[in-house]
Amino acid sequence: MSTVALVTGGNQGLGYALVRGLCERLGPDAVVYLASRDAKRGRAAVSRLRAEGLTARAALLDVTDEAGVSALAEAVAAEHGGIDIVLSNAAARISPDVSDADQVAGFVDTNNHGTNRMLKAFVPLLRDGGRYVVVASAFGVLSRLDPRLHERFDTTRMSLEDVGEVMDGYVAEVRGGTAAASGWPDWINVASKVGQVASMRVAARDLAEGDRGIVVNAACPGLVDTAASRPWFTDMAAAKSPDDAAEDVLWLALLPKAAREPYGELVQYRAVLPWGR
Ligand SMILES: NC(=O)c1ccc[n+]([C@@H]2O[C@H](COP(=O)([O-])OP(=O)(O)OC[C@H]3O[C@@H](n4cnc5c(N)ncnc54)[C@H](OP(=O)(O)O)[C@@H]3O)[C@@H](O)[C@H]2O)c1
Repeated sequence: MSTVALVTGGNQGLGYALVRGLCERLGPDAVVYLASRDAKRGRAAVSRLRAEGLTARAALLDVTDEAGVSALAEAVAAEHGGIDIVLSNAAARISPDVSDADQVAGFVDTNNHGTNRMLKAFVPLLRDGGRYVVVASAFGVLSRLDPRLHERFDTTRMSLEDVGEVMDGYVAEVRGGTAAASGWPDWINVASKVGQVASMRVAARDLAEGDRGIVVNAACPGLVDTAASRPWFTDMAAAKSPDDAAEDVLWLALLPKAAREPYGELVQYRAVLPWGR
């Protein structure tokens, strides 16, 4: 049976490097889906890989489109019966030149509801020994939030819908101008990453009830030199290239079959970052 893998937002940046790394490591018998929200950009990325002698399959996927996410999951299930590796990497960009109120809703729809849509559609498809990685960031820990907000992210008992509601409440507070007074951090990326890691933790908790060797985690790639990060950092000297940053994310995605840990954790440079309280 061929190994089946999928990377969302695979047409550029870190996602493209993740697709390339999977193609290289899994070999030509694997089916590696390069998912992109734009068919032309997806085909162009697949062609670039082909020029390197690597074979990926283009898949059209906008993570803000719930029906589209379900349709792709159904198509993968129909053709392969399941999936081995999912890298939920897609993320919307934000700009320092646009007000948070104007960009927070789209950002949360892609990065948080998109993460939830992917988890709901693809975790049930994971084959025994499957690996699911939500690409998040080291910002995605409770210690980045004011203690008043911690109870909103009680991942021991909340559902994915609850995480979505907390994030919708956050959007409303940013748009209403009350987010700072409630203790939310300045940069909307931080709250969003906490929400993504919370979603991963909820999905991992729910899956842990049966031991099928499936491992679910989140990853921080560190600072990566992409068009998404450049507007936010004046000094990119410490940033890794997408290919270099992909190495540790791929390590997590390709943990040996017998590995059960890390599980339900945020992992950076192969080490667990505590969620905290
Ligand atoms: N760069 C960093 O320093 C850094 C640090 C920590 C974590 N991360 C995380 O790493 C991941 C990748 O970041 P990156 O820097 O590679 O970003 P990027 O260069 O902006 O790439 C993001 C990818 O996501 C896609 N995307 C955007 N909206 C989408 C949607 N609605 N549905 C499906 N795909 C969508 C983009 O497609 P288009 O090409 O069509 O726009 C693009 O392929 C993100 O989760 C990011 O938060 C990055």
